[in-house]
Amino acid sequence: MSLAVEISGLVKYYGKVRVLDGVDLEIPSGTVMGLLGPNGAGKTTTVRIVTTLLAPSSGSVHVAGIDVLKDPARARNRLGLSGQYAAIDANLTGFENLRMVARLYGMSHKAAADRADQLLEALGLQHAAGRRAGTYSGGMARRLDLAGALVCRPPVVVLDEPTTGLDPRGRLDMWRVIGELVDDGTTVLLTTQYLEEADLLADRITVIDRGRVIARGSADELKMSIGGDKLTVTLAAGQDPKPALTVLAGVGIGEPSHDDGTDQAVVVVADGTRTMVEALRRLDDAGVCVVDAAVHRPSLDDVFLSLTGKSAERKVPVPAPDPVQEEILS
Ligand SMILES: Nc1ncnc2c1ncn2[C@@H]1O[C@H](COP(=O)(O)OP(=O)(O)OP(=O)(O)O)[C@@H](O)[C@H]1O
Ligand SMILES: [Mg+2]
Repeated sequence: MSLAVEISGLVKYYGKVRVLDGVDLEIPSGTVMGLLGPNGAGKTTTVRIVTTLLAPSSGSVHVAGIDVLKDPARARNRLGLSGQYAAIDANLTGFENLRMVARLYGMSHKAAADRADQLLEALGLQHAAGRRAGTYSGGMARRLDLAGALVCRPPVVVLDEPTTGLDPRGRLDMWRVIGELVDDGTTVLLTTQYLEEADLLADRITVIDRGRVIARGSADELKMSIGGDKLTVTLAAGQDPKPALTVLAGVGIGEPSHDDGTDQAVVVVADGTRTMVEALRRLDDAGVCVVDAAVHRPSLDDVFLSLTGKSAERKVPVPAPDPVQEEILS
């Protein structure tokens, strides 16, 4: 298994504050790693170090076998970064933005224009190619920014919260684009605050909080570690719960529970939606009268609550970057 990204013992201090506290992370080539964490967890700090924009206090990062601290220029050739805030020129059209990036990579006029056209089409922006990027919606701007990161076909693409702030449509578009990248064999490091997003896109997830890795695994493993999906079935009032509990025991993991007060039976299940359909079919066969059924999928907040005993919804103020403390690698 070759590693596209290897992060080892990463520590970063801002002044006296240790914002990364020994992060280790390995991403096999051609896979998607979701770096999941709440505000201030250290996601952006990590991806800025990986993409050579920031020097760590200690630790090492290799991208495609290249030591990014020793050889940042060579590492940058293997990397595409789409940052948390889109970095595009609002006064240029979408086409001009991409052509400019391609020219900066040393492509000829013709090759740069061709690549710009290709990417605009791949990201579903051809209809807006001639429009000033300043008029783009948030989702379009993020996709244009991602297109910029893909100009030189980097084998490793880093996306910092690619869908934060997008509406559901914009999020779906972005997910489609990322899915296509992955199908092409690109290795992706993606930060997100949404378990749902990591669930959908990532092969493996690393959860960080306060600069520390607090859990890793596939989405299913993480959810199972905190009890998996919960299937709740509401029975008709006053009905004997026994037949329902027998059916639920057959589709779930462990013993179902029942609450007389609410007439609800609850069981932990592995694959929530599919199991719910199966459970409802069997309940119907058993003559059980079901009033309501719902699957509760664990959210990032559930994972956090379980892992740290506190909610992820902490508001951590993010100070403006202090240029004195930023060491840009050259
Ligand atoms: N330039 C800086 N100077 C001082 N502290 C900083 C600086 N940049 C980030 N921090 C602090 O480092 C910690 C980690 O920040 P980081 O931006 O990496 O978090 P994040 O996980 O990306 O959060 P978000 O989800 O809000 O983007 C935070 O406590 C933040 O306040
Ligand atoms: Mg961030």
